[in-house]
Amino acid sequence: LPRVFSGIQPTADSFHLGNYLGALRQWVAMQDTHDAFYCVVDLHAITIEHDPAVLRRRTKVAAAQLLAMGVDPDRATVFVQSHVPEHAELAWVLGCLTGFGEAGRMTQFKDKSSKQGSAGTSVGLFTYPVLQAADILLYSPEPGPDAPDLRVPVGEDQRQHLELTRTLAGRFNHRFGETFVAPEAFIPKDAAKITDLQEPTAKMSKSASSPQGIVDVLEDPGPMRKKIMRAVTDTGSEVVYDEEKKAGVTNLLRIYSALEGTSVADLEARYAGSGYGQFKKDLAQVVLDTFTPIRERTLRLLDDEERLERLLAHGAGRASAVAERTMEIVRDRVGFVGRGR
Ligand code: TYM
Repeated sequence: LPRVFSGIQPTADSFHLGNYLGALRQWVAMQDTHDAFYCVVDLHAITIEHDPAVLRRRTKVAAAQLLAMGVDPDRATVFVQSHVPEHAELAWVLGCLTGFGEAGRMTQFKDKSSKQGSAGTSVGLFTYPVLQAADILLYSPEPGPDAPDLRVPVGEDQRQHLELTRTLAGRFNHRFGETFVAPEAFIPKDAAKITDLQEPTAKMSKSASSPQGIVDVLEDPGPMRKKIMRAVTDTGSEVVYDEEKKAGVTNLLRIYSALEGTSVADLEARYAGSGYGQFKKDLAQVVLDTFTPIRERTLRLLDDEERLERLLAHGAGRASAVAERTMEIVRDRVGFVGRGR
């Protein structure tokens, strides 16, 4: 089976619509056809200032949401990054193969560090993409003519980090011998960049969007409906797809189309002449129908924390088995002396 690895940060009280359409929906779909590893990346979450109690809660809520969305701990390996210390260890090795300038060209780093200011920008934020490369490559199948693929379902904003991961895999292989398969980004065609409801040219983002611009998976139905009704649309009244002139309506059409599985052309035809109001009202219902059951299941999963912790411990065990084996090979190839038995 091909492998799939992906991660999500526990940096908000809820995942949002962009996470869901850009990545998480694919996680669920791919677990049936792949050997799947899905990770709540708490090490990444501390690259910006955080509160320990909040991080602990968000990590559990994140795991519960993944399960509630349909990630099945029997079919997929679901785990917390800090439970598998090899992630940090491989990141160190890969960091020593990464150029300072190369890391400095990462646009997410440039965006985040310019927002934090130099005093608030940690070295961890700078090396964030190297840790991400380690996450992925730890789960690389062994290379060879029949090696299975290594696929990474993510949104458009992760494309550059995936390119760096491929570069580092190639560089390691070149210097130390074939060890990693080059991972392939799996970026959905139509939902790779869901935009902010209030600022439809900017990405919907936990860190940058205003609360009115984000649709949270765990949001109560009332406020969720209101946000969609109040989403910025454009001058005119026609429901048509036009990225340049109608960024707001275009974003809503993409969301609607992805959630309902209807083509944009069919939606345009359905709402021809009916104006924005009816369109948004129906879209709000589609979003609610998708997220209400997920919210309810998440809350139920959080009621039994012991069970959740058991599931995560089980996932960590399965992930460790793979990560430990990869790291043994890496240590040997790099030239570290084995510890013996
Ligand atoms: P994170 O936690 O910021 O986001 C999780 C996933 O959601 C996608 N995404 C979006 N997709 C479409 N439209 C949007 N507005 C939108 N906002 C977010 C992201 O592309 C991502 O797929 N660096 C990663 C976490 C990570 C990771 C990894 C991912 C760490 N290690 C290894 C893959 C493999 C991140 O910041 O995700």
